[in-house]
Amino acid sequence: MFWLNFVILSYMKTVIKNISQLVQCDDKKLRFRAGNDMNCLKTIDNAYIEIENGKISSFGNMDQWNGITDWNSTTIIDAEEGLVLPTFCDSHTHLVFAESRESEFNDRINGLSYQQIAKNGGGILNSAKKIHQIDEEILYKRSLKRLNKLIKLGTGAIEIKSGYGLSVESELKILRVIKKLKETTPICIKSTFLGAHAVPERYKGNKNEYINLIINEMLPKIASNNLADYIDIFCEEGYFTNEDTIKILQAGKKYNLQGKTHVNQFNSLGGVKSSIDNDSLSVDHLEIMNDDDFLAFKGSKTIATILPSCSFFLGIPYSPAKEFIARNIPINLASDYNPGSSPSGNMNLVAALGSIKLKMNAEQVINATTLNGAYAMGIENKLGTISVGKMANLIITKPIPNYQYLHYSFGENLIDKVIIAGEEYK
Ligand code: NIG
Ligand code: FE
Repeated sequence: MFWLNFVILSYMKTVIKNISQLVQCDDKKLRFRAGNDMNCLKTIDNAYIEIENGKISSFGNMDQWNGITDWNSTTIIDAEEGLVLPTFCDSHTHLVFAESRESEFNDRINGLSYQQIAKNGGGILNSAKKIHQIDEEILYKRSLKRLNKLIKLGTGAIEIKSGYGLSVESELKILRVIKKLKETTPICIKSTFLGAHAVPERYKGNKNEYINLIINEMLPKIASNNLADYIDIFCEEGYFTNEDTIKILQAGKKYNLQGKTHVNQFNSLGGVKSSIDNDSLSVDHLEIMNDDDFLAFKGSKTIATILPSCSFFLGIPYSPAKEFIARNIPINLASDYNPGSSPSGNMNLVAALGSIKLKMNAEQVINATTLNGAYAMGIENKLGTISVGKMANLIITKPIPNYQYLHYSFGENLIDKVIIAGEEYK
């Protein structure tokens, strides 16, 4: 019986036909695009894709398609003249949180700043209180619901951070929820330990003791239970210093956790250079950049992750995306989905903001939200482009004139179907 099942499964095939244009179909070995290369975007008109066992097995022009050889084990999806693109790779989110924080939003509308709200016990510490109180199963269910919504909006790979726990037990609670999401959803998920997100109430005035707790208690437990892929720190005035950043990144290295850091959101404290010098995979936020910060990227493999929906929602400056491109520094766009500074994880909006606010053209935006997002999660060999051998995580759009229309017609849901591992996600 097992062998029979195996034989049947191994012949599972899906064909997507009548694709008006296949977008971002490329060589599997491509790692990321930077500088002028961000203007490259390979397309095929009037195309098909064949999928076997969840992976892309071939694609091309409809005229080259051999047709169906085995009707019994082939599922046909008609794209009905829509475009097909790789799903979004969202490399920076805080999706596992207990409750929304719309009352703080209201305070901000009434004139308080993000920093003032945090000082008054709102912000990250508010979310930490709620995580402490919530049952783990309920936290999982709420997070799963959010994730399902995002998948239907075209996200096919996501990174999720801890950082609303700020105690050994609560940080582990979030990371276990992320692990369960990994095990129970078909998309690719990466997990990041962000114990150094804020100094918790009971360590006020005693930050070093909290850092010691992160290094000596949290990290060993997280590593021995395989609960994280990356390590993060919020390097910012009122949170953690450049020296703290170096200490945390070096402690993470001992457990093979590469850095993905929050730097330069409000102030440039040297965290960009320290993160890059310590081989971080990405440095994220980068709203405030000086020349030394830019120069720190020279010769590195670190990608700059830009979060335009956070700038949009908080009304803070946008990261200078075009300058990164002009300097040949790889960038990607991510949502920063969290209840305080970006309560939307919709990557369609992030892509539109990339065009409208960051002034990136359509080719640059698509590279920044697919291939380069995959690189910022270390998964560019299995997602981010339409390539033979990669996972078939795809967006089929409604019939639209071309891919420029995606960012132009912002706020409209242009997705017809989302395919995850070769199957329509419902
Ligand atoms: O990436 N900047 C730090 N952390 C989050 C916001 C956290 C919050 O306000 O809850 C961010 O924007
Ligand atoms: Fe963040």
